[in-house]
Amino acid sequence: MTNKIPNFVCEMSKHVDEVVTLRGWIFNLRSSGKIAFLQFRDGTGFCQVIANQATLSEKQWEDVKKLTLESSVIITGNVSKHPKKEEYELQLADIQIVQIADEYPIGKKEHGPDFLLDNRHLWLRSQKQWAIQRVRDTIIEATYEFFHQNHFIKIDSPILTPNACEGTTTLFEMEYFDMGKAYLSQSGQLYIEAAIMSHGRVFDFGPVFRAEKSKTRRHLTEFWMMDAEAAFVEHDENLKIQEELVSHIVQSVLRDNHQELTILERNIATLEAIKAPFYRMTHAEAVHKLRGLGSDIKDDDDLGGDDETLITKDLDRPLFIEKYPAKVKAFYMKRDPNNPELALCADLLAPEGFGELIGGSQREDSYETLKTRIEEHNLPLKSFGWYLDLRKYGSVPHSGFGYGLERLVGWICGVPHVRETIPFPRLISRLYP
Ligand code: 4AD
Ligand code: MG
Repeated sequence: MTNKIPNFVCEMSKHVDEVVTLRGWIFNLRSSGKIAFLQFRDGTGFCQVIANQATLSEKQWEDVKKLTLESSVIITGNVSKHPKKEEYELQLADIQIVQIADEYPIGKKEHGPDFLLDNRHLWLRSQKQWAIQRVRDTIIEATYEFFHQNHFIKIDSPILTPNACEGTTTLFEMEYFDMGKAYLSQSGQLYIEAAIMSHGRVFDFGPVFRAEKSKTRRHLTEFWMMDAEAAFVEHDENLKIQEELVSHIVQSVLRDNHQELTILERNIATLEAIKAPFYRMTHAEAVHKLRGLGSDIKDDDDLGGDDETLITKDLDRPLFIEKYPAKVKAFYMKRDPNNPELALCADLLAPEGFGELIGGSQREDSYETLKTRIEEHNLPLKSFGWYLDLRKYGSVPHSGFGYGLERLVGWICGVPHVRETIPFPRLISRLYP
């Protein structure tokens, strides 16, 4: 009678009134005498399993009574649909216990963040954490899809590097055999600038490292960055690519992750409003606006985390802040020809107070100017020889940007702290598990 080919919870709608076999875990259970209600999860989704003593053998009913939270099982039964909701149930016909779980440390009572982070390897199973990682996966896939549709190819940048990319204050360093110091990459940008001279448009996607001393809800010491770079693209077009990418990502999540967004209680209408074009404002305009909102930001200050929250909390779409004072930005940014005190750059800030998602700019493409900038920033010319070479052999105007995956996941999921948006967060005070 039983169909032994395993099925998936996410495909139960195709098997109503049929017998299926599912493999997974019991994440909740309650029993009322002769009937047990098991909450079951197989990774692709969740369903309720009804075990009725009257329709089971003595051995099968004994097995049901042995179950504990997080026990692993293979179950077989008939599928039925909830009369009103898009939910499916299984009438249990057979059960095979794979393992009876020890008493599970994460219960129904409230746990503090430290306890949950100490048990991150288990916490990942909870419904909300499940939903966050599914959205993260969609964002990654949508990113690849967008770039491949737009003639970018993926190029991998190195993690061990001889030079800094984003300033020297947040570098993780190590001894590299007899060659002196090596540094963990803060961004693959400089390397993918080399690759555009071969491929035109490229992106990378990988872990980056910042020895951030800051303990904020937006900072990790290891996180995933996507850097994109394109030859012949100047400042305005750079912003267009970013807003199209972000719109594409949000639309993909809305299409593929309805269940996840529901679990996360994320307001769908808010996400549906995320369409290009995004808002744009110069740094000078942002400073003016922020002062009006009560910030004490100075003319030449970078925006702090609180400023980012303040300026975006009432927005319905992301906001580009462009043309920052060059002195608060990285050495590689091209200056605004209309005002050389300013950089041809933009940060993209998420609405609803989430803050910076993307940093990007047009790059300095003149050999002499870039050499001067490297010297002004007291960076070792020797390690940047290869980067300067790019300005000697067929230099072209070019631009790029990088997003922080965890910030993007946090905003789209409506989760304020980045520690929940990466499977195993690395923070200034956390390396375990
Ligand atoms: O603004 P950042 O520092 O820009 C760069 O690294 C450029 N080289 C990117 C490029 O032009 N290709 O970092 C890019 C993004 C930020 O906007 C933010 O979303 C994220 O990376 N980010 C962090 N995310 C988590 N923890 C941290 N400590 C982060 N620092 C930056
Ligand atoms: Mg930045």
